[in-house]
Amino acid sequence: MKITPIKSSVNFKGLVIIPFFEQEENDASISFESFTISKHLFLGKKDSQFILEDNGSERIYLLVGLGKSPNYKNVKTVFRRLTARQEVLFEKKVLVWLNDKMDSDFLEAAVSGLFLGTYRLGHYKKSENEAKNWSKINISIFSAVNESKKIIEKGLKIAAAQIETFNLVDLPPNKITPKYLADWASDAGKKFGFDVKVLDKKKAEKENLKAFLAVGQGSQREPQFIIMKYRSKSAKKHFGLVGKGVTFDTGGLNIKTQGMVHMKCDMGGAATVLGAMQLIADLGLEVNITAVVPCVENAIDSRSFLPSDVIGSYSGKTIEVIDTDAEGRLILADGLSYLIQNFKPDTVIDFATLTGSAVGTFGYECAALFSKNEELSKNLQQYGEKIGERLWPLPMWDEYKTEMDSEIADIKNYHGKPYAGAITAAKFLEYFTENHTSWAHIDIAGTAFGDSEFAKTKHATAYGVHLLIKLIENL
Ligand code: BES
Ligand code: MG
Ligand code: ZN
Repeated sequence: MKITPIKSSVNFKGLVIIPFFEQEENDASISFESFTISKHLFLGKKDSQFILEDNGSERIYLLVGLGKSPNYKNVKTVFRRLTARQEVLFEKKVLVWLNDKMDSDFLEAAVSGLFLGTYRLGHYKKSENEAKNWSKINISIFSAVNESKKIIEKGLKIAAAQIETFNLVDLPPNKITPKYLADWASDAGKKFGFDVKVLDKKKAEKENLKAFLAVGQGSQREPQFIIMKYRSKSAKKHFGLVGKGVTFDTGGLNIKTQGMVHMKCDMGGAATVLGAMQLIADLGLEVNITAVVPCVENAIDSRSFLPSDVIGSYSGKTIEVIDTDAEGRLILADGLSYLIQNFKPDTVIDFATLTGSAVGTFGYECAALFSKNEELSKNLQQYGEKIGERLWPLPMWDEYKTEMDSEIADIKNYHGKPYAGAITAAKFLEYFTENHTSWAHIDIAGTAFGDSEFAKTKHATAYGVHLLIKLIENL
């Protein structure tokens, strides 16, 4: 899909899409150029549309209601709906006409939405009618916003990275293996400009990534520990990222009895970090990033790790495995200590589909945020609210840490109780962060993958990709 700004709509023939804010009841009827529409027919209400054909000018006008004061996510959704549900509209020439109340955020959200709406879940469908070739579709946007070309390009880059994240999460686990993620990272590194190093099993053994390897030892698919570095000459800050890359979570020998079918999403944190790396490099952000993405499959096999095993870790601390389904925290423990010990980033953020408890607490609307750093926590919440990728904090009091004390090892991976699951998981991770003073853990079990109006099955959301960019841009 190509989207270009235009400065004049005179002589345009084709489909003109005009978004409208909802009018107050006593406002005049809606008018645009030569036509007026009675307020009884169209008021700009949320989710409303009005189509009218003008044979004289050879234009079809599609009026799209936005509601009174749509936020960023509302605007994005309105435009995503157009390309997702009304793809036949996008055949001939298309012009999107924005009025002067629609600012640069509006423009960015509209562009991202249009591009995101071209994503389809039917990756393996051999349907008779070929899927639409969106690369041939050109859309013009009329907008009074300064530097609209730059903003359009940015909106497209954000959506492109989010679509990559969709692909990684939605494709099945027999395709998205640890090796696939490692290859994806290497390719993206070459294409967008960041360094990628991958530790295979042998190299990970040499590096003593013992907790990471324990989780992967029951799988035919070799674990891959991905390390990515993006460097900018004008960087003032060094950011560290970690993403949980469990390409499928059977639960291990503590086999899942519920919801296993959705566990291809358990590399959602990895996909967030990979998508964000693409976007950071694509936008050329002035920051240094080091990202670590441990990738494994948590499989069931005679070689799988056992409940009650005591395993080592990169940090040297020992871990008693109470439950093999609490595997994410084990690979993240090694990811976090490897990142912090070797690269000493100023700020560290990890993304992980870590606990069912986070879903139980917040549902699908918001991610669980854990951080003792108030500034980082506030910034994340503020930018998340702006773009509709919400987070809400849960406490990090040390009383919760004592729940994780083990009698045989330094720590255990599960307290064995049916409460405070997301918090105790966060306290486990904290034990491996070398007392870093600027670390946030984001549990995205509820937000990475879910239902929406855009599909009948659960699917990826790319939660976190844009959030990270917002945070980094505003350092
Ligand atoms: N991958 C799951 C968490 C999850 C749940 C992700 C729902 C996405 C949606 C994680 O590895 C897990 O199994 N967590 C257990 C931990 C428990 C055994 C301590 C959980 O939350 O039940
Ligand atoms: Mg699990
Ligand atoms: Zn898991």
